[in-house]
Order: sequence, then C-alpha cells, then structure tokens
Amino acid sequence: MRVLLTGHQGYLGTVMAPVLTAAGHEVVGLDSGLFADCVLGPRPADPPGRQVDLRDVTAEHVAGVDAVIHLAALSNDPLGALAPDLTYDINHHASVRLARLAREAGVRRFLYASTCSVYGAAGGDDLVAEDAPLRPVTPYAESKVRVEDDLHALSDGDFSPVYMRNATAFGYSPRLRADIVLNNLVGHALLSGEVLVLSDGTPWRPLVHAVDIARAFAAALSAPREAVHDRAFNIGSETNNVTVAEIAEQVAEAVSGARVVITGETGADPRSYRVDFSRFRAAVPGFDCEWTVKQGALELADAYRKHGLTREGFERRFTRLAHLRAASEAGAVDETLRWRR
Ligand SMILES: NC(=O)c1ccc[n+]([C@@H]2O[C@H](COP(=O)([O-])OP(=O)(O)OC[C@H]3O[C@@H](n4cnc5c(N)ncnc54)[C@H](O)[C@@H]3O)[C@@H](O)[C@H]2O)c1
Repeated sequence: MRVLLTGHQGYLGTVMAPVLTAAGHEVVGLDSGLFADCVLGPRPADPPGRQVDLRDVTAEHVAGVDAVIHLAALSNDPLGALAPDLTYDINHHASVRLARLAREAGVRRFLYASTCSVYGAAGGDDLVAEDAPLRPVTPYAESKVRVEDDLHALSDGDFSPVYMRNATAFGYSPRLRADIVLNNLVGHALLSGEVLVLSDGTPWRPLVHAVDIARAFAAALSAPREAVHDRAFNIGSETNNVTVAEIAEQVAEAVSGARVVITGETGADPRSYRVDFSRFRAAVPGFDCEWTVKQGALELADAYRKHGLTREGFERRFTRLAHLRAASEAGAVDETLRWRR
C-alpha cells in the first residue's frame, strides 16, 4: 500500500516508518517538523515526505494514497493545557479535515493514533475495555475523543477509520521524548542517581513500547476490513499495566545505584486506568506486544549512555513543551506554532 504517515518526524513516526517499509508498504511522510532536529544518536533516514502543517493539508496531499496513518498532533497533556484552543485546532479540527479529504480522495483505511488517556479518571483496579465510559480529564484527551466521534460519523462502506488507543509509549527512538514516564524516569536516574516520582506513585499507567505500537499499526493496516472497520482498540499488553511506583522500581533495577524517591508533591494523579488489551489480539490473531517495561528501561539506559544524553537534552530538546517554548521565545515559531520563515 501507499501509506501517508503524518507525524513521521515525531517520536513514534520515526520508529514506525521503517517498520511499515519493512512490511512492504510505500511510505510518504507529512509533518511540520517541529521536532525534526530533536535527535539523540545518529540522524534517522526519513522516508520521502513533505513539510506541511496539518492545518494546511489539501486534496493534493492525499491523492493516490491507499491508507492514512495519522500521528501528527500536539501530543501530550502539558501541551494541551498550555494552549487548549490550539490543541483543538490541530488535534481535532485539522484531523477531521484530513479525514474528510482522505475519504473524498478514495482512501480506504484511516488509522488514527488515539490514546488510553480517553479513559482518564477511570479509577479503581478494574480493567477498562474499549466500551468503558470515556472520561477525559485534559484538553489533549478530550481532543482525541472528539476526533473518534467525528471519524465514526465519516465511516461508510468505503472508508474505514480505526481508533488505535495506545497506552503510554516508552523506548528509544532517534527522535526521543524524555517527557513520557519511563523515558523520563530512566533519564533522571542516570543524570542524578534518583528515580524521581512527583505523584504519590499510585496511579495505574499502562505502557507499550514504541516498536510494539508500530507493529500494531502495521497489523491493523493489513487486517481484513471487517476485523477493524470503525472499531476502537486498546494497544498494549496486560503485563505492562503498572503503577507509577512499580515503573520506578523497574527503573531502579535497570540503572545500578539509582534509588527511588517518591515526593508525592503533586498528590494523587486523577489520570489512572488499568486496561484490557484483548480486543486487538482477538481481531488480529497472532499479534502480541513483545517488550516489557524492564527490557525498555534497560534499552533506554543503554541508549542514553551510548548517545550521551545531557541534562540540557533531557530538560529542553527532548521535552516537547520546553522545546516549543524555546522555539517560540527565539521567534522561530509564532503563537500558533507555525514557522515564521
Ligand atoms: N507517545 C505516546 O505515549 C502516545 C500515546 C498515545 C497516543 N499517542 C499519539 O501518537 C501520536 C504521535 O505521538 P508522538 O509521541 O510521536 O508525538 P511527537 O510530539 O513526538 O510527534 C508528533 C508529530 O506531529 C507533528 N505535528 C504537530 N503539530 C503539527 C501540525 N500542526 N502540522 C503537522 N505536523 C504537526 C510534530 O512535528 C511531530 O513530529 C500523537 O497523535 C499522540 O497523541 C502518543
């Protein structure tokens, strides 16, 4: 298939592009490149792509495409809280516009990168499956719910949206993010000797390796239409349903000499959900996630040491919000995160 991959220069997109290519697909990227230079280690070989803002996509960008994988977004809660209107403009309105254009162009499958954050304040220890009530607690998660609803309205006999509700990702990507929990805790442990948890450690936070997300998208791309059409899937594995305190313990084991410090200063995080991942395994027989949290912590510690993660990189270049603030202060992007040049 000829696949349009939006967000191909992000953390997940950089890992996903080679997985799709290896599966035999022709990948074309689309990204505004906000983090294109935020690289740890050798610069990745990106697939052919266009530097386009999602808000400016036209019919030309989806012409001749068989499937769209839509990752491009302002991708976390702090970014959403900083500028809720911008989050809705990019994550919601521009995403739905892209989907409409894709449908008009005859694109048959649209894999949407949603999130388990849609369950938000699910609370409790029960497993939440895809039909659980959605209780988003941030503009970011709310934007994902709105897109799922609007894509559902667009689905028909020829256009199949699929809602991939990913757990929180971890693992090395050349376009690293240090602002997601495992990547963050390993980096802090290496740089300071402390596995620093600011919450009280009790929230459930299901995790999934970036490579397993990429494999799941590749599997959903080639699954029979009736298995995935207009369906939501939690992407991850029950093994990696862990509390933040458990994640911290795994990190302390992976980074020798590091000790866990739970300050509790931000209190109990309302975002807590423990997830049932069985629907996707049933829909796509043979698929399962391969990476454990412990393996990911070891992989990250190795990559950080090998590529020389610095405190500047950890706090600025690989932290999405800090990087965008710096780009804005330097005048490189305007207040709507468009390039000024
Ligand atoms: N990383 C996770 O833990 C996780 C978990 C669940 C869902 N997701 C979703 O997966 C997707 C990818 O996440 P990620 O971790 O790779 O994030 P990321 O921030 O690393 O990548 C997002 C990409 O989108 C691009 N982008 C942002 N605004 C754009 C715009 N207006 N026009 C064009 N491109 C734009 C950025 O340049 C970037 O390359 C997002 O939709 C995110 O919500 C991520």
